[in-house]
Amino acid sequence: MQQSLITIAYIAASALFILSLGGLSRQETARRGNWYGIIGMVIALVATGAAMNVGGLPVLAAALVPGLIIGAILASRVQMTSMPELVAILHSFVGLAAVLVGFATYIGPHAQMTAAEKNLHTAEIFIGICIGSITFTGSVIAFLKLRGSLSGKPLIIPARHMINLIMLLVTIGLGVAFFMAPNEATGQWPLLIATVLTGILGVHFIMAIGGADMPVVVSMLNSYSGWAAAAAGFMLSNDLLIITGALVGSSGAILSYIMCKGMNRSFVSVMLGGFGTEGGAPAAAGSAPAGEVHSVDAESAAAMLQQSKKVIIIPGYGLAVAQAQHSLAEVVKILKEGGTEVKFAIHPVAGRLPGHMNVLLAEANIPYDIVFEMDEINNEFPSTDVAWVIGANDIVNPSALDDPASPIAGMPVLHVWEARDVIVMKRGMASGYAGVDNPLFYNENTLMLFGDAKKVVDEILTAMRN
Ligand code: TAP
Repeated sequence: MQQSLITIAYIAASALFILSLGGLSRQETARRGNWYGIIGMVIALVATGAAMNVGGLPVLAAALVPGLIIGAILASRVQMTSMPELVAILHSFVGLAAVLVGFATYIGPHAQMTAAEKNLHTAEIFIGICIGSITFTGSVIAFLKLRGSLSGKPLIIPARHMINLIMLLVTIGLGVAFFMAPNEATGQWPLLIATVLTGILGVHFIMAIGGADMPVVVSMLNSYSGWAAAAAGFMLSNDLLIITGALVGSSGAILSYIMCKGMNRSFVSVMLGGFGTEGGAPAAAGSAPAGEVHSVDAESAAAMLQQSKKVIIIPGYGLAVAQAQHSLAEVVKILKEGGTEVKFAIHPVAGRLPGHMNVLLAEANIPYDIVFEMDEINNEFPSTDVAWVIGANDIVNPSALDDPASPIAGMPVLHVWEARDVIVMKRGMASGYAGVDNPLFYNENTLMLFGDAKKVVDEILTAMRN
């Protein structure tokens, strides 16, 4: 294909990626945004294939076809609740790709360059490989933590900040040695050592971050993977890869900021790690909430809901696990037909990935205009008859506000306890993702409705229909 056509295709793909990000930022336009992204990626792949030498095409096909098949199978099989793991492992591939591209570019044959071009190229290779290596190992650790194969507890080794600093300084030193190396045979050693060192840094960084901060880590690694892709784009002189990488890198950084805000954590404190050990002391043994738990059955809960003027539903991770959203949509319909005002309150880190609850509710065709973000609805609880918590825990934990010693102290939460009554639906008294007890369950105005969310919502539905 002619170079000018390829340039046009790359510009079109870049524009589609920008439109895609714009579309994905709102629920109403998310599907369209997804399509823009898909079309942009197809254009990018075709144009990149067309730009290659014919001899390279079989290699491209040999990499692309199995990749497409494996990707399609994995994506169609993955449960929504396992999405963060999938995203984490995909980020690791981007990091690994940047490392491999870096070494291939360094060792492989390259065109004649001026001294300035060569310096720039050397810097691109070193920075690209280091970012790629941190992204690769960090994402693998995040994947293992999210899967539960590694403990979610932060690993705190003594003088860890000092160790990180030393590793960083040694990496910079290796960068200088790499830059000064007279030829590839000499230069490959500092490059190799820096790759291993930044890989260890990636492991150490993510091991030190506690489970409750994982939302920020996933979006941060998303950002890193973008910068790794952009670095690979520089090494390969591929403008589209640079643009796409920069888009992913900056949108991931913005998402990390939003997540930090949602959890009232500073980005630096998340990165320094140790949340749950140093950021807030674990609750002392004697301070665990205790008292009497009042429970309710599905039939009485159904009656309570139907007699209410205003109900706010708070969905959480348990709703996603139980896949109760479709039955819930039926319940909402009946309540609205009976004259009850129903709203949904969405916490920014509810579930296990950004926008998790919005996707679930959209799947069940729950109208967008009754779904509200935490900040929009938090002051409505005092005028609410029933706050109905379904499979949520950390996001409605009052100790985040009341107990400065709590590991989740400072995290903004939904003030459900301000409603006249609270119904909490979950299977037992287990704690949530952050592993923190929840005093809400012992409040005078809280009724616990025990059972799997899907089973119990179905029972409520049957009771309402009868
Ligand atoms: P969690 O605090 O994890 O609580 C979910 C509750 O659902 C659990 O206490 C569990 O109690 C209950 N549950 C599980 N399966 C259920 C089922 N089948 N039926 C009914 N209940 C069920 O969830 P949350 O309130 O949504 O808070 C999210 C947490 O995840 C936050 O700590 C957040 O930081 C973290 N996180 C979020 C993200 C993002 S980006 N959203 C990513 C990673 C981590 P039982 O076992 O007693 O039923």
